[in-house]
Amino acid sequence: MEILLKGLLRLEYRGYDSAGVGIDGGNGKEWEANARSIQLIKQSGKVKALDDEITKQQDMDMDVEFDVHLGIAHTRWATHGAPSPVNSHPQRSDKSNEFIVIHNGIITNYKDLRKFLESKGYEFESETDTETIAKLVKYMYDNRESEDLSFATLVERVTQQLEGAFVLVFKSVHYPGEAVGTRRGGPLLIGVKSDHKLSTDHIPILYRSCTCCVSNVLYCMSPAGKDKKGCPTLPRMEQDTCHTLFAEDKKSVEYYFASDASAVIEHTNRVIFLEDDDVAAVTNGRLTIHRIKRTAGDHPARAIQTLQMELQQIMKGNYSSFMQKEIFEQPESVVNTMRGRVNFDDNTVILGGLKDHIKEIQRCRRLILIACGTSYHAGVATRQVLEELTELPVMVELASDFLDRNTPVFRDDVCFFISQSGETADSLMALHYCKERGALTVGVTNTVGSSISRETDCGVHINAGPEIGVASTKAYTSQFVALIMFALLMCDDRISMQPRRREIIQGLRVLPDLIKEVLSLDDEIQRLAAELYQQKSVLIMGRGYHYATCLEGALKIKEITYMHSEGILAGELKHGPLALVDKLMPVIMIIMRDHTYTKCQNALQQVVARSGRPIVICDKDDYETAKSSSRTIKVPHCVDCLQGVLSVIPLQLLSFHLAVLRGFDVDFPRNLAKSVTVE
Ligand code: AGP
Repeated sequence: MEILLKGLLRLEYRGYDSAGVGIDGGNGKEWEANARSIQLIKQSGKVKALDDEITKQQDMDMDVEFDVHLGIAHTRWATHGAPSPVNSHPQRSDKSNEFIVIHNGIITNYKDLRKFLESKGYEFESETDTETIAKLVKYMYDNRESEDLSFATLVERVTQQLEGAFVLVFKSVHYPGEAVGTRRGGPLLIGVKSDHKLSTDHIPILYRSCTCCVSNVLYCMSPAGKDKKGCPTLPRMEQDTCHTLFAEDKKSVEYYFASDASAVIEHTNRVIFLEDDDVAAVTNGRLTIHRIKRTAGDHPARAIQTLQMELQQIMKGNYSSFMQKEIFEQPESVVNTMRGRVNFDDNTVILGGLKDHIKEIQRCRRLILIACGTSYHAGVATRQVLEELTELPVMVELASDFLDRNTPVFRDDVCFFISQSGETADSLMALHYCKERGALTVGVTNTVGSSISRETDCGVHINAGPEIGVASTKAYTSQFVALIMFALLMCDDRISMQPRRREIIQGLRVLPDLIKEVLSLDDEIQRLAAELYQQKSVLIMGRGYHYATCLEGALKIKEITYMHSEGILAGELKHGPLALVDKLMPVIMIIMRDHTYTKCQNALQQVVARSGRPIVICDKDDYETAKSSSRTIKVPHCVDCLQGVLSVIPLQLLSFHLAVLRGFDVDFPRNLAKSVTVE
């Protein structure tokens, strides 16, 4: 129970509104003697509320010992039905909890399934789409053709009936001590912990049927196991052990199924990332991975990977919130993004994940950057320098809109998917869309093993370290730097570009120190927040390289302070937004000494002429701007295309302090989740 609750706490940052657990009930002896039962405890609200509910249980004996046991736990973010104990997961097949299931995602055909199951006499107790899965598995079990149907096969059959996105873990009284997990369109990993040596570091996949012949037996693909036609000829798997993972002493092994490595990292750093439609089963301490059929391009095994993540990275340390910690980590996180990739002495850039594709990218017809939220802003922020250094047309697209428009995509396009989590449903769907149309796909993610990082043809890990705060901060600056590195790589053999490349690379060299300098403004920004926190609205204006900063600053403010905030392109002021300006409206303007300086000065005059009293984020040596503004936040100067990394930090700090002063939980903004794995 402690492991389950701790795991849920580690996942709290992803956002949720209710939680639940399902564990082995009864006492150990009875359980082993086959008098099995499953106990469910669910509660709305925080994990703490669930913990309190568990403590209240009279009939739960915490001292029972089991040789083999399985518990499942879940935090739910309501999509179908309000947050309530009955709508929380695990969902169950029936009142005696024969099958229970936890689910991330949305089942789009749940209404049809529900109608069918109701016609078979099943009574539903919740409003969730998930309950149909629990009932369907029981229906299929009750109507099985033979007694020896395995749990994995049963789950495979169930998933064939499901449409939509899902990550599922099942538990059943009919399969005591067994766990089955599967995924389609969402992340699922398995942590493996054992003091003993493991039987293998690659688990070959077991296929249920062969696409090139009519066999319908379990087989795995090893190089030796093919006949002349290339059909698999491996023996039936019941006796075979090549495909299972177990500990050398054949017992003491723990498996952790989780949607995120942070839930397992304190137990083990050895993990297996499952692919879509993998069905992973643990039976008697052995892990097997199944797929229904082999399709072209499938990798025939899943590797056990060693994660570099440290527990400390997902702890708050001395900071009051993860967001604050992550803002202050930026001097190091941008270094980690550049580490081993930028050589400041000979002005070269190497991106290992792109090296085999860079020639193809250089020949492409356009670059399309696709993302959501903050990650989209990283695309907006770097678009200009990408256009300049690649001399290619660059489109920056919000993933949802890109899909809504059925945007034309061609084989000679290169599509970038920028995503901190690597799991955002809209971005992932846009990735599938672009792959279907033959474009080369490039991932820019912060999460090793994420769907986007695995499904793209090539990519760049931004290496910012785990970002726990729902409000993205260090991921933004690292995405920014990663895209700049890509732009530099694209023009490394262009003689005419060398002076500009050198200027930018030397700018990257000093960037971490300049970030530290901006962070030292924290007290000043806190004082500013104290003046603004009771306001209803904040307008943020800028143009050129800093338009993205305006959008990102406004998003941060909306997201965690619940104040209205709008990022406004200063060039658009007189086309409408100027009407909002008066002496009461809080306005923040970003004015830097780049090619837009004079135009920004004009915008400043227009705002001042309407009695506006803008707070200006400007270059620390810009005395002219300081003269005509009532208040300035002075940041150090750096090369124009990197200045956006510096101009965004005061706004990150401001949003943080505003949220604290308004009394909100900075890391858990209402209605939002860290990974948006639903459309
Ligand atoms: C920003 O603070 C947000 N939490 C949000 O906009 C986020 O950037 C967006 O949901 C995309 O997430 P991703 O980077 O993980 O794809």
